[in-house]
Amino acid sequence: MKITIIGAGNMGGAAALGLAKKGAAEITVTARHEQTLKKFEGTGVKCLTDNKAAVKDAQIVIIAVKPWIVPDVIAEIKPVLDYKTQQIVSFAPGVKAEDLLAQLKDGKEGEPRLSYVIPNTAIEVGESMTFVSPVTAEEKDAEILNDIFSTVGVSMIVPQKLMIAGTGLASCGIAYALRYIRAAAEGGVETGFYAKDATAIVAQTVKGAAALLLEHKSHPEAEIDKVTTPGGMTIKGLNAMEAAGFTDAVIKGVKAGK
Ligand SMILES: NC(=O)c1ccc[n+]([C@@H]2O[C@H](COP(=O)([O-])OP(=O)(O)OC[C@H]3O[C@@H](n4cnc5c(N)ncnc54)[C@H](OP(=O)(O)O)[C@@H]3O)[C@@H](O)[C@H]2O)c1
Repeated sequence: MKITIIGAGNMGGAAALGLAKKGAAEITVTARHEQTLKKFEGTGVKCLTDNKAAVKDAQIVIIAVKPWIVPDVIAEIKPVLDYKTQQIVSFAPGVKAEDLLAQLKDGKEGEPRLSYVIPNTAIEVGESMTFVSPVTAEEKDAEILNDIFSTVGVSMIVPQKLMIAGTGLASCGIAYALRYIRAAAEGGVETGFYAKDATAIVAQTVKGAAALLLEHKSHPEAEIDKVTTPGGMTIKGLNAMEAAGFTDAVIKGVKAGK
């Protein structure tokens, strides 16, 4: 399987590195500047600055540039795309499906098999939460994408109506989780740890909390009950966080991007 990713930035670059590490497919990635492609040296990722040449042999073409650059990229590669043999994927949830389809179809024969794939940056380390959301792609196309992105974390096929909600929870969500880690580490510095140690401690603690939920398939509150001794430190800490609006702030944050 050959995959070409147009755009080697935070998301496209992370996906290229993650997928190549797992040997999930032959990966080609493009960028405007040679300098951007330096980070792929020795990774097995093929690098080009010529988008047309890069998409020619690919079975899957992923567009991973900023939303306002998407129309230019589509206009550039459209003449060499073949909608019968190639799936088209957008990493950009900010560009509407109808706009993408209109741009892909304008002046070209055939029906593009279009899907969105929304990973998060943990794809680079094989721990992405990825959503595959078909637009005009067939079921088997979505399954192929789901299988590929399952090699670099957990991948889930969702209908279009859930794609933006998924983006908020998982792609933006990684930033929310990191902000918690930073905040907790700042608390740790106040209680006596060096910042570097506090960050490592909180990161491992969050990893442990996630592992408990994923392995036990339990409710967060069931795991919380196990660590809240009556009158103890944990319940005092939780209640102080809630008094400052913790749950409310997180729900508001998750909903704000919609
Ligand atoms: N970051 C995330 O967590 C995340 C999550 C899900 C989806 N997304 C989506 O992914 C897309 C990319 O975001 P990003 O954060 O990765 O952006 P980014 O870091 O700014 O990277 C964009 C990349 O596109 C390249 N590029 C720009 N114009 C190009 C062109 N005409 N042909 C080929 N390559 C071109 C740039 O190359 P140069 O460096 O050489 O200029 C750069 O490497 C966005 O639509 C975003 O919404 C991002």
